[in-house]
Amino acid sequence: MLKYLVVYASETGNTKKIADEIFYALPSDSKEEINVRRWNGRHDAETYFIGFWANRGTCSLEIIDLIMSLHKKNVAFFGTCGLGNDQAYYKAIEQSAMVWLPEDNNFIGSYFCQGSMPPIIRERYEESRERFSQAQYDRMIAIMDEGLKHPDKQDLLRANVFTDTAIHKIPSTENYSRIKDIF
Ligand SMILES: Cc1cc2nc3c(=O)[nH]c(=O)nc-3n(C[C@H](O)[C@H](O)[C@H](O)COP(=O)(O)O)c2cc1C
Repeated sequence: MLKYLVVYASETGNTKKIADEIFYALPSDSKEEINVRRWNGRHDAETYFIGFWANRGTCSLEIIDLIMSLHKKNVAFFGTCGLGNDQAYYKAIEQSAMVWLPEDNNFIGSYFCQGSMPPIIRERYEESRERFSQAQYDRMIAIMDEGLKHPDKQDLLRANVFTDTAIHKIPSTENYSRIKDIF
């Protein structure tokens, strides 16, 4: 069994950039990175870093299937979304995936950042312009324009730090055996 598996869903490449950085930051040769479309039950690991892009506030069915299948693993989530710098929104995305995670897993944290949005989203904004005030519309366009710069170097650096923090939440085998000895 692998020590670490990084599995991600990414339509336009933003989440893959974060996945690549997390994979790079993992301090072991016993690791693999795969697109969730290639995932099958045969890829197994002690620790999963599961990445997805926000799709109407949640993750795809493929990611939900993976999350639901996990038992007694260390699990972290990561991903990208259209909104930037909004911890409450990132928490909500984390929770939308968390509901699918069986309770016997050890959750070691999540990391989300902004990603660029495809031009189709801008077209949709323009089509529905009359539903928003000028101030709201300007804000949406500003977020969209800012997104074009992400994930940037800072986002990748934070992903790297997150990886280190997350793996330090994994109980060591030695600790496990001590606990077993006590009980
Ligand atoms: C159909 C669609 C739905 C989206 N829904 C959301 C959403 O609910 N919340 C959000 O913040 N971003 C949303 N986005 C933006 C994406 O999450 C964002 O562009 C993400 O970085 C894409 O990641 P990827 O390049 O890995 O596919 C949506 C984008 C698309 C195309």
